[in-house]
Amino acid sequence: MGYTSIGPTTLLSPLPVVMVSCCDGDGRNNIVTAAWCGIVNTHPPMLSVSLKPSRLSHDWIRERGAFVVSLVDRSMAEDCDFCGVRSGRDTDKFRERALTPLPLSALPEVPGIQGSPVCLPCRVHSIQPLGSHDLILGNILDVCVRDDLFDGDGSLHLERAGLVAYNHGVYQCLGDVIGFFGYSVARKDVRRKRMQRYAKPGGASGHRQA
Ligand SMILES: Cc1cc2nc3c(=O)[nH]c(=O)nc-3n(C[C@H](O)[C@H](O)[C@H](O)COP(=O)(O)O)c2cc1C
Repeated sequence: MGYTSIGPTTLLSPLPVVMVSCCDGDGRNNIVTAAWCGIVNTHPPMLSVSLKPSRLSHDWIRERGAFVVSLVDRSMAEDCDFCGVRSGRDTDKFRERALTPLPLSALPEVPGIQGSPVCLPCRVHSIQPLGSHDLILGNILDVCVRDDLFDGDGSLHLERAGLVAYNHGVYQCLGDVIGFFGYSVARKDVRRKRMQRYAKPGGASGHRQA
């Protein structure tokens, strides 16, 4: 099988695409879409978001030292795109997209986005200039999960959320569950039983749509 070298570029894919909310000192809220984000530490829980210094959100996050990362499901994909092509300098994105701020007790000054499957309020740990982008590291203060993603027994089923990924210029919804952590070495009966959890109600394997 042949390969074509396309040079050093940023083609790591898929990436989670998230909506990052922030606020200014006058209580105005803004949202920026970011695909350059990730988890960077477990204890303490930390994540990263890389933003260009030219973004309004970059200024507000630096000034207030806080932001909220909201995961995106299928129903939010177009709002997510909008927040990535319009600046808060000329648009009130919450109002324009009829998005409802979600108050979060761990970070009262910055709202999440109502309807998002998961919101992660963060305090800025550090900001590291890298070149085109600044790497913003945040301490995760809490994780707020939409109630319908829990089973009756309290287990979290994020695979049912219909999360959206960013894949080289397009948004794609996560599809079927094809395995679980450690399934390659799990006993056959454990593997079968566990995979039944992810079966669609209709019978075929896969995940339920939210
Ligand atoms: C899918 C997608 C992913 C994006 N990812 C990033 C990113 O990781 N970092 C960044 O600085 N800008 C990113 N952008 C661009 C910003 O979201 C965009 O410039 C936005 O309008 C800035 O808004 P603001 O000025 O209100 O902060 C992305 C845009 C889209 C559509």
